[in-house]
Amino acid sequence: MRSAKDFFRPLAVGAPTPITEVPARPSRVIHFFDPSNAKMAAKVPAMVGTVDVLLGNLEDAVKADRKEAARAGLVEIAKATDFGEHTQLWTRINALDSPWALDDLTTLVTEIGDKLDVVMVPKVQGAEDIHYVDRLLAQLEAKAGLTRPILVHAILETARGMVNVEEICGASPRMQGLSLGPADLAADRRMKTTRVGGGHPGYLVRTDPVDGDVTGARATAQQDLWHYTIARMVDACAMHGIYPYYGPFGDIQDVVACEDQFRNAFLLGCVGTWSLHPVQIEIAKRVFSPSAEDVAHARRVVEAMGDGTGAVMLDGKMEDDASLKQCLVIVELAERLAQ
Ligand code: GLV
Ligand code: MG
Repeated sequence: MRSAKDFFRPLAVGAPTPITEVPARPSRVIHFFDPSNAKMAAKVPAMVGTVDVLLGNLEDAVKADRKEAARAGLVEIAKATDFGEHTQLWTRINALDSPWALDDLTTLVTEIGDKLDVVMVPKVQGAEDIHYVDRLLAQLEAKAGLTRPILVHAILETARGMVNVEEICGASPRMQGLSLGPADLAADRRMKTTRVGGGHPGYLVRTDPVDGDVTGARATAQQDLWHYTIARMVDACAMHGIYPYYGPFGDIQDVVACEDQFRNAFLLGCVGTWSLHPVQIEIAKRVFSPSAEDVAHARRVVEAMGDGTGAVMLDGKMEDDASLKQCLVIVELAERLAQ
């Protein structure tokens, strides 16, 4: 039976860096800000406590001539801000084949390594990328005298990264989780979408013709472009005991589609998502928390199942050892969120 201990990632055997304990933590909302944008940066201190993660983004969406300013801005914000117990500080560094990634890691770990919880690495292709970051972090942490390991989160946004998703998850005991990067992944796969996340009205199924009449009216339903990818990512993360996250939803005004996409990811096993705008924060918090009804039902099943074995009938439905495990997922999530 799962317990709260399961929220702490077990150590991988034969890992490249000897880390004795990795206090990984799931989070519903990873809120992105651009540290080179003074207006956005000024809002950061007031957001502490309102989101699980504040992430200073250095990669895409920051212009090439603002990379150094973004890095320096993040150092300044981190030094000036007390993030308290409930909000973590993460960063998304530039891609490992860009001119900035090495300086990002060196500067951030040296200057604010004591405040930085997780480094998000974009465009990860395979375990070798994680090994590279892991070794660099180990050196920089040792030099800075840091005792708490900085964790690593990879974005799945290349076809090669998707193919190597299992080895990426298990590449280091620093691995905290994965996010889907639907925009870069769509481009790399040569999908024909132009949005950041979400669906496409042309990706649909149509009912068969009635009585063979191919000209007659037939219902259609839009399909989820990301179902396969998210399900695959969730399996790989579950296998390695790390956390899967949805990622960005770029149409800030379409709060309905945003909520649908987040909810699909939640139901498939994701623990959280990114927010690119404050309106997405409340959506993410609501969606990635189990409903009061689901929690009440799950508690009834736990209660009815007694020692956790056998089968009982509740409201005409059969519950057994396996449905108990599903209910425990909901109960434990509710308990953790209440802490
Ligand atoms: C995120 O980085 C994406 O490419 O969707
Ligand atoms: Mg991307």
